[in-house]
Amino acid sequence: MSTATRNRVEVMHGVNLDQLERRDPAQYGSLALSELERMIADEAAALGLKTRFFQSNHEGDFVEHLHRLEGMADAVILNPGAWSHYSYAIRDALELAALPAIEVHLSDISRREEWRRHSVIAELCIAQVTGKGPDGYREALQRLREELL
Ligand code: DQA
Repeated sequence: MSTATRNRVEVMHGVNLDQLERRDPAQYGSLALSELERMIADEAAALGLKTRFFQSNHEGDFVEHLHRLEGMADAVILNPGAWSHYSYAIRDALELAALPAIEVHLSDISRREEWRRHSVIAELCIAQVTGKGPDGYREALQRLREELL
């Protein structure tokens, strides 16, 4: 293990999150993904963390990106969108990545449809933040700062 600072956070968005500004504002707010990512990058920089961003609508690409994280990231924040509720492939790839992970959802998945209430990745994450909109990512970054620095 090198003595270099562990401050690289990979922020991963899954299916349909590239369309954020077109989705139900009552659930997801009105930011576009690019605006959300800018906010996350600024907040991270203020906390001494470095961010890199990834979004895909293709489950296999999302899985392969998780495979590539070894040695490239020190932690991951992920919002896999609907995949969170059923993708055992993403769950297994996250386990392989073996990094401190925080699951974020803009909406409060515990108060929505029954099928959204369960997350197959939750057990692998050190925290789950839901229903706080963009502020949820701030909370995740603060938690990772405590974990990493
Ligand atoms: C979401 C919640 C999921 O249930 C949904 O499928 C999404 C977004 C959220 O950020 O609230 O695409 O992950």
